[in-house]
Amino acid sequence: MAPRPDWVGSMLDVAGLRAGYAPVEILHGIDVSVGAGEIVALLGSNGAGKSTLNNTLSGLQRPFAGRVTFDGTDITGWPSARIVARGLVQVPEGRRVFPNLSVRDNLELGSYRRGGSGRTGNLERVVAIFPRLKERWHQLAGTLSGGEQQMLAIGRGLMSEPRLLILDEPSLGLSPLLVEDMFTLIGRLNADGLAILLVEQNVVQSLAIAHRAYVLENGLITLAGKASELADAPALRKSYLGQ
Ligand SMILES: Nc1ncnc2c1ncn2[C@@H]1O[C@H](COP(=O)(O)OP(=O)(O)O)[C@@H](O)[C@H]1O
Ligand SMILES: [Mg+2]
Repeated sequence: MAPRPDWVGSMLDVAGLRAGYAPVEILHGIDVSVGAGEIVALLGSNGAGKSTLNNTLSGLQRPFAGRVTFDGTDITGWPSARIVARGLVQVPEGRRVFPNLSVRDNLELGSYRRGGSGRTGNLERVVAIFPRLKERWHQLAGTLSGGEQQMLAIGRGLMSEPRLLILDEPSLGLSPLLVEDMFTLIGRLNADGLAILLVEQNVVQSLAIAHRAYVLENGLITLAGKASELADAPALRKSYLGQ
């Protein structure tokens, strides 16, 4: 379906999304949107359904009901390759790099579905963002540290010239110092104009860089609003910050 010419809505618009692992429903009707140029945080503790949502948005799982619109096009139920080709790109949880391929080969695979013509320039851009990857250029990805693998996973996502990047728990398993670096970097990518859906358990740092946020609990959005306002919301402070 072609985009409607009068379309002026969000870049990503999720309405009434139900999904899970048939016959078990995990997401019970989710409404989420991300506008052009926004960082939107999706917060929730372990098992809330964050990755299920990401995988459904990315076409790795088919939704049971609801609608996903990207850039004005209904992409509900599209296969993942076609969704990536549109520029909706996910960096999955647990940084799934190919362990037996080099850093360079992992990055190049990122431009398989999209960004092929800009590959050389994109490689240079990724290396400028993550100089460490250049130092590890021919090293097998499986031998990188956790932080380096996360850089590689994000770099690979950037190789496909995302219009919207979904990051699934990018700070998971990193040392506190690297977590700080990771959030700074995500903020910088957004400052360059990239729309980001930042999926995190790290509430304080996510709210500090996000424009808006949603809280997902047991497959339902229980709080939504401006990040600055949610940071002060008593319900959020009590549940996630123990205050
Ligand atoms: N492959 C799967 N099959 C069945 N249930 C799953 C599968 N993956 C996750 N789940 C269940 O879905 C729920 C949400 O998981 P998930 O989306 O991974 O949460 P989060 O990413 O927020 O930690 C959990 O109860 C989890 O056990
Ligand atoms: Mg998850």
